[in-house]
Amino acid sequence: TFPKQVKIVEVGPRDGLQNEKNIVPTPVKIKLIEMLSEAGLPVIEATSFVSPKWVPQMADHTEVLKGIRKFPGISYPVLIPNLKGFEAAVAAGAKEVSVFGAASELFTQKNINSSIEESFQHFDVILKAARAAGIPVRGYISCVLGCPYEGKISSAKVAELVKRLYSMGCYEISLGDTIGVGTPGAMRDMLSAVMHEVPLAALAVHCHDTYGQALANTLMALQMGVTVVDSSVAGLGGCPYAQGASGNLATEDLVYMLEGLGIHTGVNIQKLLEAGDFICQALNRKSGSKVAQASCKL
Ligand code: HMG
Ligand code: MG
Repeated sequence: TFPKQVKIVEVGPRDGLQNEKNIVPTPVKIKLIEMLSEAGLPVIEATSFVSPKWVPQMADHTEVLKGIRKFPGISYPVLIPNLKGFEAAVAAGAKEVSVFGAASELFTQKNINSSIEESFQHFDVILKAARAAGIPVRGYISCVLGCPYEGKISSAKVAELVKRLYSMGCYEISLGDTIGVGTPGAMRDMLSAVMHEVPLAALAVHCHDTYGQALANTLMALQMGVTVVDSSVAGLGGCPYAQGASGNLATEDLVYMLEGLGIHTGVNIQKLLEAGDFICQALNRKSGSKVAQASCKL
């Protein structure tokens, strides 16, 4: 059985753009977020307050967050790696933030220049500051179905870290198949382990589509009771520190599938397709969404 309703977390403006080599003009990012808001996405991850030396594409985070029109009922979380990022995000008006860690020691080192243990010390500091400021915190665990540097990742390790983030106070944990190597079987096994430790209502899945499995993996998670799914308009995405990672599950394809299942999302697929066209034109790129490619037949 499937859930009646699914919350889509649109990560295109952050995950989708962070890997782009050419700097996308700030007004284009702002327009994209506006169009996604108009399409009815309930959560739009707007940018990340990481070091501009590490991810130059996100250097305009303050301008983006201050520049977007905030629609009532839509949240615009931002990614933060440390207290410095948290403070800058809050100063720019962030009402919600996301911390990100990984179940792989080597990926954590390459992505945030720390060990897993050190990363959790940062999370602790951030979560205390966020609690004091009344700011909800989402958490990510990356490499849940494989790591570009370590290969296989144990589900027990994933479950342990997800439990830890949840008990530290993250209201929701997004399970990232960062390099898109998972299959529905791997998703089932990993989720079974994680569900033992953390309530289903607090879990989200975040699938990249490198091996063409993102939609199938997401469907498996929905069947197992997950009700929050991350996706990216036009299937944009990738992490600059995850070798070989490609785009995320395309939001258009996710919405199309959910509509077919009679699952409510609140998203207007026509408007979503327009947002996808807009960003693909700006990037001079073909959409990664199959539905966008086929939309003449809708
Ligand atoms: P570091 O070099 O170890 O940090 O980087 P540091 O504390 O030594 O600082 C170095 C410089 O960065 C200093 O500047 C700091 O001020 C500055 P300097 O003194 O040299 O001029 N700095 C900052 N500037 C702005 N905002 C900040 C900030 N922090 C330090 N918040 C650090 C450590 C964590 C900062 C760095 O490694 C970093 O920013 N990493 C981010 C990498 C990233 O964004 N990766 C992509 C997101 S994760 C992802 O995509 C996966 C996900 O989608 C889920 C999935 O798919 O699995 C979420
Ligand atoms: Mg990602």
